[in-house]
Amino acid sequence: MNNSRRVEGIAPFHVMDILARAKALEAQGRDIIHLEIGEPDFPTPQPVLDAAIAAMKNGDVHYTPALGLPELREAITGFYRDRYKLAIPASRIAVTPGASGALMLALGVALDAGDEVLMADPGYPCNRHFARFIDVLPVGVPVGPDTSFQLTPGLVERHWTPKTRAVLLASPSNPTGTLARDEDIREIARLCEDRNALLIVDEIYHGLIYGATPQTALAHSDQIFVVNSFSKYFHMTGWRLGWLAAPDWAMNGIERLAQNLYLAAPTPAQFGALAAFSKENMEILESRRLELMARRDYLAPALREIGFGLPVMPDGAFYLYADISRFADDSFAFTARLLEEAGVAITPGLDFGVVLPERYVRFAYTRPLPVLEEAVSRIRRFVAGRLE
Ligand SMILES: Cc1ncc(COP(=O)(O)O)c(C=O)c1O
Repeated sequence: MNNSRRVEGIAPFHVMDILARAKALEAQGRDIIHLEIGEPDFPTPQPVLDAAIAAMKNGDVHYTPALGLPELREAITGFYRDRYKLAIPASRIAVTPGASGALMLALGVALDAGDEVLMADPGYPCNRHFARFIDVLPVGVPVGPDTSFQLTPGLVERHWTPKTRAVLLASPSNPTGTLARDEDIREIARLCEDRNALLIVDEIYHGLIYGATPQTALAHSDQIFVVNSFSKYFHMTGWRLGWLAAPDWAMNGIERLAQNLYLAAPTPAQFGALAAFSKENMEILESRRLELMARRDYLAPALREIGFGLPVMPDGAFYLYADISRFADDSFAFTARLLEEAGVAITPGLDFGVVLPERYVRFAYTRPLPVLEEAVSRIRRFVAGRLE
């Protein structure tokens, strides 16, 4: 038997090879600094742990409704009300297994085989694979520093074809940490509505913005799909919990998809998440956001000083997408050698698309400041002599 053609089209994550090699080196006794994986190093905050444990002790371990615990959907409504002063009814919220589940539902509910979805390249790689899984064609739109690595209305227009049925943005983006401009999101939303297409905005890093928090895309139109998650800002990656805010018309289809694809998101995680929006928890999250900002503010200038190109300062997330062309012309080989010789693991651009992947690497500043300082001194020694 062979894999399906669909699976053959799905590329592996190169960062997993880096991680495997890093683990092998650690097993040999090497000290490796991990800046490759896109997950915060902080543990899940205590209020969430306590709520989940209490629920499990109470026997709350059965399936929830497919769209999620009604109380959690209400709590997410409260989050939009408190943070964005926006009324999004709980009836428009689906609780999902991570942002990953939300992205699959959004694409699945509105697109058919042969449709095209526009997305930024570089971008989060799973999106193009989600599209392929439902026989939708992902169309990578090359983006660069001139648009802060984000789609603009002009780029969307230029890449539109008669088959385009959706546009997908992530703001802030992975791997660049940059935001799309509010007015661009509004304009792209209008463009999509005019052409009977759908706009999906992935706001998984929206809680981790280091300047003024922009409006959620939900403020621009009630036809936009917004994906969010408890993974990153809430430090709950392994709990597999996220949500999708969708237009009214889509909710019945989303519910049927959820019922059939996974029945419901994990129950203990949903009970834990009920505590995620509490004042006590939000204070913990806020202090961690400030810690991540301090790391960005240390690492970005330090890498620039060494000779990495950082054409745009990231607005959020915990990534720096750095240009290595002063040192090498193959970022894949560069990351491999950096790991072997300096014991620092980072991700090659290859994981994020086909636009100049050989020129870029991604640093995830998911280690404490003293560890980042050690990483910088190792990298400085490693690149000494490689400067052109
Ligand atoms: C932009 C983006 N969207 C979605 C996801 C998936 O996150 P989740 O853990 O919520 O499924 C990630 C994870 O790295 C991401 O970077």
